Amino acid sequence: MTTRTKLLDSISVPIVVLNSDLCVALANEDALTSFPTLETGMELERLGNWNSDFIAVLKGALSDQEAASLTLVTDDTFQREFLVSVKTLTAPDQASDTTLALTFIDQTPLRVAKSMRSDFVANVSHEIRSPLTAISGFVETLQGEAQNDPEARALFLDLMGKEVVRMTNLVSDLLSLSKVEAKESRAPKNRLNLNQTILQAVESATSLARKRGKNLECQIEPSLPTALGKRDHLARALINLLENAINYSREDGTVTVTAQVAPADNPLKRDAVMIAVRDQGEGIPAREIPRLTERFYRVDKSRSRNVGGTGLGLAIVKHILVRHRGILTIESTLGEGSTFTAYLPVAAPQHKN
Ligand SMILES: Nc1ncnc2c1ncn2[C@@H]1O[C@H](COP(=O)(O)OP(=O)(O)O)[C@@H](O)[C@H]1O
Ligand SMILES: [Mg+2]
Repeated sequence: MTTRTKLLDSISVPIVVLNSDLCVALANEDALTSFPTLETGMELERLGNWNSDFIAVLKGALSDQEAASLTLVTDDTFQREFLVSVKTLTAPDQASDTTLALTFIDQTPLRVAKSMRSDFVANVSHEIRSPLTAISGFVETLQGEAQNDPEARALFLDLMGKEVVRMTNLVSDLLSLSKVEAKESRAPKNRLNLNQTILQAVESATSLARKRGKNLECQIEPSLPTALGKRDHLARALINLLENAINYSREDGTVTVTAQVAPADNPLKRDAVMIAVRDQGEGIPAREIPRLTERFYRVDKSRSRNVGGTGLGLAIVKHILVRHRGILTIESTLGEGSTFTAYLPVAAPQHKN
C-alpha cells in the first residue's frame, strides 16, 4: 500500500478519484463504506441522483481545469444527501492525463435538522393559533349576542380563561424546553439529595391527584445515594411523569412512585438510582412508545387537550435526563398500565481531607 493510498484511507471523508473517462480510478476506505455499490472502474454517475447534468459538469471541469460542485442524493432508502466538490488533479500542461478528485460532504444531518426546525415552527404556530382562534370567537360572541346575557357572559369568560391557561402552559413549556436544550452539553455539578427532590415532586402533584380522584403512593428508599443535578429540573421531570400518570390513568386508579438503587444490570451500566412512576391506566400501544418523547406527539390528541396537555411534557423529561446523563425507559401493558422509569447516575463519593 503506498503512502498516498494510506493517507487517503486515513481521511474520514469519502474521496473518489475519476480518470478522464469519468470512471472510478481510486476510492478511499470511507467512500467504499459510505457507498456499498461503489467499485473501481464503474461509472460514478450510477451512484444515485445528481442535481445537474453530471457528465457536462465533470467534462467542463476536465476541459477548463476548474473546480466545480454537485449534489448527490443516494437512491437507497436512506436518501442521504452529499455536497460533492470536484477538483482537477493534474497541471494544465498535461491536460490529457487530468484526473478528478471528488470529495463528498454529508449534508444529511443538516437536512434533517432543517426539516425538524420547520416542523417544530409549524407545530408551535398551529398550537398557538387554535386557542387564539377560540378566544377571538368568544370575544365576538361577547360583543354581540351574549352582551346582555349575564349567564352567557360568565360562560364565555370562563372558556376564554381556559384558553389563556392553555397558551400560558404552552409558552412556559416551550421556555423550559429551550432552557434545558441550551444547557444539555454541560452536566450539572451540584450534589443533590434525591429523597428531597422526589418528595418535592410528589407534593406538587398531590393536589392534581386529589382533583382527579387518584391515589398517590410512594415507596421510596430512605437514604438514596447522592446524584449530581439541578433540583428544580429533576423535580420538573418527575412532576411531568406524575401528571401524565394521573391524567391518563383509570378513575380510582393508583399511581405509585418507587425509588431505589438500580440493579447492577441497569441500562446505564453504572451505579444508578431508578425512579419509577407506575399507573393503572389503559396502557400505550407498543408502536407508539418510541415516539412519545417527540415534541407534540400525543397518542390521543383530544384527551391530551382535555387534561390541559401541551404535548411537550415527555420531550422536556427526555432533555432533562439527557442533561443529567440519565435515561428514561417506558414499559406498558394494554389494559393494565404504564411504567415510566428514570435512571440517574450516582455521584462519586466526596473525599474528605
Ligand atoms: N402514563 C401514561 N399513560 C398513557 N399515555 C401516556 C402516559 N404518559 C404519556 N402518555 C401519552 O404520551 C403523550 C405525550 O405526553 P406528554 O409529552 O406529556 O404530552 P401531553 O401530556 O401534554 O399530551 C400523551 O399525550 C399521552 O398520549
Ligand atoms: Mg404530559
